[in-house]
Amino acid sequence: MPQSHSPAGLEFGPRRKSFDIEAALATDWHGGNPFRTAWFNSMSMLFPLGEKFFIDSVCHFTDQVEDPQLLAEIGSFRAQEATHRLQHQKYNELLCDLRGYDLVRFEKNERARMEWANRELSAHRRLAGTVASEHLTAIMAHDMLTRKDTLVDADERIASLWSWHGVEETEHKAVAIDVYLAVGGTVKIRRLAMIHSTIFFFKDTFRNLCIMLQLDGKLWSPRVWLSGLNFLFGKPGILRRMFIPWLRFFRKDFHPWQNDNRHLVDEWQREEERAQTTAPLSS
Ligand SMILES: [Fe+2]
Ligand SMILES: [Fe+2]
Repeated sequence: MPQSHSPAGLEFGPRRKSFDIEAALATDWHGGNPFRTAWFNSMSMLFPLGEKFFIDSVCHFTDQVEDPQLLAEIGSFRAQEATHRLQHQKYNELLCDLRGYDLVRFEKNERARMEWANRELSAHRRLAGTVASEHLTAIMAHDMLTRKDTLVDADERIASLWSWHGVEETEHKAVAIDVYLAVGGTVKIRRLAMIHSTIFFFKDTFRNLCIMLQLDGKLWSPRVWLSGLNFLFGKPGILRRMFIPWLRFFRKDFHPWQNDNRHLVDEWQREEERAQTTAPLSS
C-alpha cells in the first residue's frame, strides 16, 4: 500500500548551489531596511539546528516505512535539508563575523529546547513537531514564491538563496507528514504540535530580531518598528497573508499536496536557466 501521497511523477533532490553573499551580509541587504534585514537574518539563525532536528525526527522512522517511493523521498528530504543547514551555517557565521554578533547567543534557546525535546518527548511527538514546522516553512515558501513582493528591494544574491530554499521546501513539504501518517501519528498531537511550533518559531525569531536591532542601535526606533510591523501585518503583510494557509493545517484530512503548487518550482527553474544563459562569461 502506498505511503507516499505526493503527486505522481514528483521527483526532487538537492541542488549544488553557491551564493556569493559575503559583501551583502555586512549591510542592511533588504532594501536598506534594518527590520526586514533582521527578520530574515534572525530566521536564518534557526535553520542549522532546526533542520538537524527535522532530519533526525524523520529518519528515526525509516525502518518502519515500506513504500519505496516514500523511502526515496526521505533520502531526498534528508539531502536537501542537509544542504540547507550548510548554506545557512555559512550565512550565519559570515553574518556574525561581519556585524559583530554572537552566534552562540542566537542559538542558545533553540539548542536548549532541542535537547529538552530529544530527552523528554517521544519520537512520535518530535516528528509531529517537524510536520508542523515543515508546514510553516512550506506556507512561507509558497507566499514568497507566489507574491514577489517579499524580497523586492532585497540584494539579489541573498534573495536568490532564500528563493532556492523556498523551492526545495516546496518540493519536500509532504515527506514528514507522510512518514507521520505511515507510523500512526494522530490528528490531535499534530494540531497541538502546530500550536507549540508556531509559538516557539515567533518567540525565537522575535528574540533574535530584537538582539540584532539592539546591537545595531535600532531597537528603540519607532520608524524601524512601524516599517517592520507594516511589512509583517500591513502591506505586503507577509504574516497576515499566511493566516488562512496556517489554519488549513488544523483540518482533519489536511495534506500539503491539497495545494499542488509544483508550477512555482517550474517557474523558478526556468528563471534560473534564463539567468544562467544571460550571465556574462567570466574570464
Ligand atoms: Fe530547509
Ligand atoms: Fe524542510
